[in-house]
Amino acid sequence: MKTTLIKEILVSEPDGRHVTIYGWVRTKRETKNLVFIQVNDGSCFASIQITLDRDAGISPDTEAELKRITTGSSICATGKLVPSPASGQAVEVAGDSVLVIGEAPVDTYPLQKKNHSLEFLREIAHLRARTNTFGAVARVRSQMAYAIHVFFQERGFNYVHTPVITASDCEGAGEMFQVTTLDLERIAKDGASAAAKGEPAVDYSKDFFGKPANLTVSGQLEAETYATALSRVYTFGPTFRAENSNTTRHLAEFWMVEPEVAFNDLDANMDLEEEFVKFLMNWALTKCTEDMKFFDERIQPGLINSLKAVAEADFARVTYTDAMKELEKNADKFEFKPFWGCDLQSEHERYLTEKVYGRPVMVYNYPKDIKAFYMKLNDDGTTVRAVDLLVPGLGELIGGSEREENLEKLEKRITEMGLNVEDYWWYLDLRRFGTVPHAGFGLGFERLLLYITGMGNIRDVIPYPRAPKLADF
Ligand code: 4AD
Ligand code: MG
Repeated sequence: MKTTLIKEILVSEPDGRHVTIYGWVRTKRETKNLVFIQVNDGSCFASIQITLDRDAGISPDTEAELKRITTGSSICATGKLVPSPASGQAVEVAGDSVLVIGEAPVDTYPLQKKNHSLEFLREIAHLRARTNTFGAVARVRSQMAYAIHVFFQERGFNYVHTPVITASDCEGAGEMFQVTTLDLERIAKDGASAAAKGEPAVDYSKDFFGKPANLTVSGQLEAETYATALSRVYTFGPTFRAENSNTTRHLAEFWMVEPEVAFNDLDANMDLEEEFVKFLMNWALTKCTEDMKFFDERIQPGLINSLKAVAEADFARVTYTDAMKELEKNADKFEFKPFWGCDLQSEHERYLTEKVYGRPVMVYNYPKDIKAFYMKLNDDGTTVRAVDLLVPGLGELIGGSEREENLEKLEKRITEMGLNVEDYWWYLDLRRFGTVPHAGFGLGFERLLLYITGMGNIRDVIPYPRAPKLADF
């Protein structure tokens, strides 16, 4: 590559060597004799300052270019790398030439102010990565994706690419986006007359796959097929849920990382969750220091200390039944009154982790009726070996479980949940042939990023958010 990134230049010795800078102009300021240009290339949080001194002479060509430089324009500048007299930067460039590569007209370029609202920036998602906040989010997101691979690869896990298009509903919640090449408008027209004739309104044999297909809600079932062959695997990819949740914690398209481990039980699964989350906190704190400093100062004061506390805390572990006792004692504090058998609402989750424990808490052994069919039934016959990790300020970060490895029990659960045993024939084969206890979990990648960056809305930690009535760009 012929360019040098600004992050490399900023840590170089200011020994007067000649450098070339490529990037986008953040600001241009002029005094009588001096021109200061802040240039950012997104390689790091900081911009580099290019100072041009008219007393030292600026060529007519560069003077002409300087007039064209506005916020947002892309430039190439050359000069000597020297110590900076300005505070907050060790080096700057004593510029000798500047070339505008692409203009950004003042009257039309939308990013003129320093502090645009996050709502406004959501409307220009294609440009928001050029701001401090979204540049930092993008870099931390990339680092955390890398960290996930490092964590699992270092521990003998194989990365499995589970399919995006699937015929099965992993969570059994029916919140799937259908994938079809059928002509929906035509079906809408012809469907009624077909139904009148007693024929099915939709003939799936004519669809692309010859039967209904969906976007995956989780890669878990397919990950299990590989865990029961390779022992330790993880899948990490986009996941889709057609749930009508317009909250700051839900997306219709999000990324999930799902490890799956053969010969593992619920306790070991909790150990892995805790080790994983602590590893990720430490990674953010040590590898993303400049961006984390920004989040701590500008987005959520105290963020760094709270992440450090999580990295050092022993996560609490409590059964659903005991957690419910705690909540019922404080029932007056909740809008939704808690009772044994109810799903934990986000107000309950936050109360447990923030008020009762003051640290991350793993709630396990949930009533079977509120959890997915694949979770292992406890001997009590009423609870399953599920575990949710709740964290302060956010609520659920991870959902996981030990899986039902007994064929008969699993078939029974599938039927009880109103699902079709035949649809899961290949999944049941894992229990027919060499079945083993196994466990795994799913961590919502954007929830993790909300937690690490302190950002308040999940739509701001993914480049192009998809939510109900929101699929712009
Ligand atoms: O708890 P969930 O539904 O668990 C599963 O999908 C399991 N199959 C995982 C497994 O055991 N392999 O989802 C896991 C996590 C949640 O804890 C949450 O962090 C995130 O995925 N998540 C969402 N994130 C953003 N938007 C949504 N709509 C989400 N739904 C779940
Ligand atoms: Mg869950």
